[in-house]
Amino acid sequence: MDIQAIKSEIDSEIQQINSLPELEALRVKYLGRKGIIARLTGSIPSLPPQQRAVLGQQANELKAKILNLIAEKQKLLSAAVNKAVGGPVDITLPGIVQEPGHLHPLTQVNDEICDIFTRMGFSVVEGPEVETEYNNFTGLNIPLEHPSRDAFDTFYLKSPPSTVHSPPENKNRGPSALDRRRLLLRSHTSPVQVRVMKSRKPPLAVVVPGKVYRPDAVDASHSFMFHQVEGFMVDTDIRFSDLKGILEAFAKRLFGQDIKMRFRPHFFPFTEPSAEVDISCIICRGRGCSVCGRKGWLEILGSGMIHPNVFRNVGYDPEKYTGFAFGMGVERIAMLKYGINDIRLFFENDLRFLKQF
Ligand code: DAH
Repeated sequence: MDIQAIKSEIDSEIQQINSLPELEALRVKYLGRKGIIARLTGSIPSLPPQQRAVLGQQANELKAKILNLIAEKQKLLSAAVNKAVGGPVDITLPGIVQEPGHLHPLTQVNDEICDIFTRMGFSVVEGPEVETEYNNFTGLNIPLEHPSRDAFDTFYLKSPPSTVHSPPENKNRGPSALDRRRLLLRSHTSPVQVRVMKSRKPPLAVVVPGKVYRPDAVDASHSFMFHQVEGFMVDTDIRFSDLKGILEAFAKRLFGQDIKMRFRPHFFPFTEPSAEVDISCIICRGRGCSVCGRKGWLEILGSGMIHPNVFRNVGYDPEKYTGFAFGMGVERIAMLKYGINDIRLFFENDLRFLKQF
């Protein structure tokens, strides 16, 4: 075949090519083992000696030219493909690994608290965030007009939805008839004590995780919504020493075996006697630092023996049953455990913060 003819043929053929597979077929046609160039050079030994050198050189030049043409066309076609898919594609690259998500630090701490209690035999119960004024206050021995209601500042709902069950009206309705219907966003998880005790009989060992609401201005240590875990145990012979033993086992599992604990007398309307519980500061180990306000102690929860009036309100005989209760803030526990100094970090959902847990 004539060199010149091959040259013009490939020139026109390469124009027609529109894809990389077509280009590969063209390469095989010309440069493959049985291709046109191979046949051309294969014919050289049978030529007269003078022509061999000339044809050999021409064949080499032609081969170089074809390689060149193919390389250029390949660049052109790849550029078109890249443009179509929005960038250079290297199909040998591994896929993009999707980082698995994980639980929010508050969920982790909440679960950890509940796990410690369930392993001690408590069951987990949840209650509604929209609660009656009765369950949130009156049932818990926090009477109307009592100044202790101020300690649990509350969001009230404007009007009770008609779907809410209200007790039958009668002429001599008691003082609690109205507050059984008035609705609010619960300001603590303690109302679930009332709900559970009304619907079940002792023995009871229950923990109640959940959201609570208070109309506080948001700052580093306040949020209008936060989380609590409530706990209580009721039976015929529950003593303050049971409360101490359970809470000590809990605090040591959560914060470490070497922490110390103390019970400080306090007042809550729903418990008598009441105590706030402190642990030795986990930052300075009791020596005094900025986290514990130089006191060496950190308050972690409120607790006490369930008030006889609460038992009366739920229909338990206070002569027969005794019990303890406690309540803690999940944000506060999480902040102490991880040395977090601003409650807002839990709710802003900045991934740089969340990824650390
Ligand atoms: N309900 C209290 C609060 O929100 C916490 C609390 C204190 C719960 C003492 C209890 C308790 O069950 O016995 O501040």
